[in-house]
Formats: sequence, C-alpha cells, structure tokens
Amino acid sequence: MTCRVVVLLSGRGSNFQAIVEAQLPIEIVAVISNRPHAAGLDTARARGLTTVALDHTALPDRETFDALLADEIERHHPDLVVLAGYMRILSAAFIARFEGRLLNIHPSLLPMFPGLKTHERALAEGVKIHGCTVHFVTADLDHGPIVIQAAVPVRADDTPDTLAARVLQQEHRIYPQAVRWFAEGRLVKNHGHVNLKDDLTSQSVFSIGM
Ligand code: GRF
Repeated sequence: MTCRVVVLLSGRGSNFQAIVEAQLPIEIVAVISNRPHAAGLDTARARGLTTVALDHTALPDRETFDALLADEIERHHPDLVVLAGYMRILSAAFIARFEGRLLNIHPSLLPMFPGLKTHERALAEGVKIHGCTVHFVTADLDHGPIVIQAAVPVRADDTPDTLAARVLQQEHRIYPQAVRWFAEGRLVKNHGHVNLKDDLTSQSVFSIGM
C-alpha cells in the first residue's frame, strides 16, 4: 500500500518540493500550513495537491491550535507526517498523537545547535563541519532519534547565507531519502536509535557534501 504523507510547512517549501520531485513511493495527501501565504502552498496547488491553510494567529493558544491541526491531519489518514520548514513548536499532546510517524529536518548536525539561527551559531563557534539532520520528532525539541545526517565543510569566508545554501543542498538530498526509507519500512527503532534495515555498515545514513 502506498505510504500516505501529510506535509506541514510554514514558508518557502523547498524541502517539500525536493520530496515531490524525488518521485518517491508515497502519496502526498495534503499540504498544510499555519501561514496562509506560505509559498509552499502555492507550489502544492500548482501541482494539484490538496492544500489547507490554518492560520495559527486566529486561535487563542498553542494547545487549541495544535488540537485543530491534529484533527485536520487525521482527516487525511496519513502514515507519515513530514515537517518541512514548519516553524512552530509543537505541543506535547500533538507529538503524542503522531509520535513514530512524525519526521523533521533540522539545519545542523544534531545534537549540536538545536533551535534557531543554526548557521550563525555554527559560524560563531568556529566549527569546521556543519550540516543537517532528519530525525523523528519527540517531545524533546530537536532531540528525537536520528535517521540520516549530511555534513558540509565550513569555509573561512562563509556567511550565514552561504553556509545555509550549502547545507540546504544536502537537506534536499537527505530528506527525500529518509522519507523513502520510511515508506519502504526500512527504519527500525532500537532503544531510541534508528537503524536502517539491511545496512550493517551504516554507510548510507551519513554523507559529506562539498
Ligand atoms: C530548512 O532549512 C529546514 O531545515 C528548516 O527550515 C528550513 C525550511 O526551508 N527546518 P524550506 O521551507 O524547506 O525551503
């Protein structure tokens, strides 16, 4: 059976687009945004996908909004919910409803630099390697079980923007890969870690870009 995917996004939606273009064995059953004017919604509409805008500013608090959001997601019966630049912290109740089928991409090599402004912080620390991580979402912000990571070199003349662009290229590679593995049933959780079925070397779960 095809894996039914709901995508949540708040902005540009380039990761969502990379997932669409990777021609995965999935069906994107809805693209939902908390920002009615998110560019990602336009991309989804142009591709004939079902879109839903739920403006979080119209709701009194996070719990109320997240309950509404969760109900909307469940209407589409997803096997997997993909956070693709969804820029709102999710409530514990929301995460509990979707735990195990909720993936996120974060622009750092977790557990380094959880939270925002990761590229600026990486440059400020002088790290020589930076990157991105796809992980399962748990109540512990940006700390869920890691599925795949990609690293890039940090160059002496990097700005947050040049570094972000180099990381983003890798995001567009590893997020579709992670979604494919999920859809193929290859992600195996083991004591809070994720292993890839039939990959004892783990060589496909990390990579170095340039
Ligand atoms: C990406 O850098 C992603 O890692 C982060 O938010 C950004 C979203 O970009 N969570 P896009 O909307 O997918 O282009």
